[in-house]
Amino acid sequence: MVSVSRRSLIALGAALPLLGRLDWAVASPPLTETDKVLLNYNESPYGPSQAAREAMQQGIATSGRYPYKHMYALAALFAQQQGLSEEQVAVFSGSMAALRYAVLAFTSETRGLVMATPSYEVPRQAAESNKAPVREVDLNADHGHDIPAMLAADSNAGMLYLCNPNNPTGTITPIDAVRQALANKPKGSVLVVDEAYIDFADVPSVVSWVKDHDDLLVLRTFSKVYGMAGARLGLAIGHPTLLERLAVFGGDNVPAATTLLGGLASLEDVKLLPQRKALNQQLRDETVAWLKGRGFTCTASQANCFMIDVKQPAEQVVETLAAQGVLIGRVWKNWPQWVRVTVGNKREMARFREVFAQFDTTKQL
Ligand SMILES: Cc1ncc(COP(=O)(O)O)c(C=O)c1O
Repeated sequence: MVSVSRRSLIALGAALPLLGRLDWAVASPPLTETDKVLLNYNESPYGPSQAAREAMQQGIATSGRYPYKHMYALAALFAQQQGLSEEQVAVFSGSMAALRYAVLAFTSETRGLVMATPSYEVPRQAAESNKAPVREVDLNADHGHDIPAMLAADSNAGMLYLCNPNNPTGTITPIDAVRQALANKPKGSVLVVDEAYIDFADVPSVVSWVKDHDDLLVLRTFSKVYGMAGARLGLAIGHPTLLERLAVFGGDNVPAATTLLGGLASLEDVKLLPQRKALNQQLRDETVAWLKGRGFTCTASQANCFMIDVKQPAEQVVETLAAQGVLIGRVWKNWPQWVRVTVGNKREMARFREVFAQFDTTKQL
């Protein structure tokens, strides 16, 4: 046992310098028979950038000290890049934590949550744990948030949650609709716009709006385009008084120094985001075109995931692909024939197409 694991470690060590020299974009190692293709969590197939990896390694040496210095540096750099002040940026161990705290802060037994369905379920779960009423509103015909219906859903809502681009569909809610939500939401409520996937999309962020609106909270994550899901780093952006209301629940939820330094290096690397965005778009759009050519409908995604109407109970398709080592999903209850697929690297998407070809409806006719 010991010698096997030591051998495999040596093999991994030998591969690292080579990977280091390769451009990250082409570094998709060949799949072996036993490799699982992980297209089921909207993670990045590339992981942290080379610069982030090096910064994280340096962070180990600073880990004897509390990481606040790095945290403030990260908030300051993000704020500077976005034209905000650093008091408008709060750093958390993942945006999921910030989202949960937002739900706990802005909803109650009398002030509910309004959100779309299908969408990211974390706010619903947090509201339920807070005994707050939850109104879920179907996406509209374009798979955007149905803002008029959301505004009408609960005149006493404490929080409206808007995921843009939306998880799981990857679809966009137009900026005018977001503006309409902010202008017309119930008095005393907060609009939370989750921009976890905005870096992949060709639409503007609403992050700058927090300068003029103390009832808007925007969430960002380093888990997606920056490939740091396992390092846990997310941001909440809003008026300082709004951020204080989150801090009550988890102001001590500070990421490790290694994570913060990796995040800083990711933000400093100005070429990284456009490169990864372009590659994701290319692989997503060619996969969607391939699926359409085989008779499937897909959501018009601008994220690193999309959904396919598989024209049968989607759980069956998930299981069939899983048995062949390709993990996709999840399936949302009210869209039982649709399945979410994360955009992986070039080889992973080739493998996905290889196994998904068995469902080709044009061949079955
Ligand atoms: C819409 C959305 N928000 C937040 C998160 C959580 O991100 P983090 O890893 O920063 O907690 C996810 C993760 O998949 C997500 O899809």
